[in-house]
Amino acid sequence: MSPTARVLDVGTGSGCIAATLAAERPRWQVAAVERSPAAALVARRNLDRHAPAVVLLLADLTTALAPPFDLVVANLPYIPTGALAGLPEEVRRDPALALDGGPDGLALVRRLLADLRRLLRPCGGAVLELGEEQAPVVAELAGPAGLAVARRLRDAGGCERVIVVQPL
Ligand SMILES: C[S@@+](CC[C@H](N)C(=O)[O-])C[C@H]1O[C@@H](n2cnc3c(N)ncnc32)[C@H](O)[C@@H]1O
Repeated sequence: MSPTARVLDVGTGSGCIAATLAAERPRWQVAAVERSPAAALVARRNLDRHAPAVVLLLADLTTALAPPFDLVVANLPYIPTGALAGLPEEVRRDPALALDGGPDGLALVRRLLADLRRLLRPCGGAVLELGEEQAPVVAELAGPAGLAVARRLRDAGGCERVIVVQPL
């Protein structure tokens, strides 16, 4: 990847992923997008402290963003709506906007997948965190979105939780 890669963190929340990437790779041009104004305020405060060069946008997914990006990262809400009530209490304290992924948990991931071909450079890639058991479904959705699955990664508990896709 270019030393000055353009990188986008979608659904940045507190800004932790964007701040970490910018701190680890100071020459990358990192942008972050968040839909919740309250979360964006927290992100801006954290970014000002740890990675002030990160550009933060208040927007719905990638609609406001102009390509090309070398890397897109996203930990979007992926809990199915029907499973929200059964989450542990400490997780339920998070706002629904940070958790609710629609009927099957993948409403936002589907929308992002559909825009990745537009956003990514031909040699770029996207890294998406998913819920348990969602990686096979997302792998099926990748091809029709013009994407190839490059990797599927497991977390420390052995669950497939991350998928890496690239333009076909
Ligand atoms: C699971 S949290 C992840 C936060 C952070 N990226 C992290 O890994 O800790 C998902 C984030 O996506 C944001 N979000 C939800 N819908 C969004 C949308 N349509 N566009 C942009 N961000 C959205 C939520 O407000 C929340 O901050």
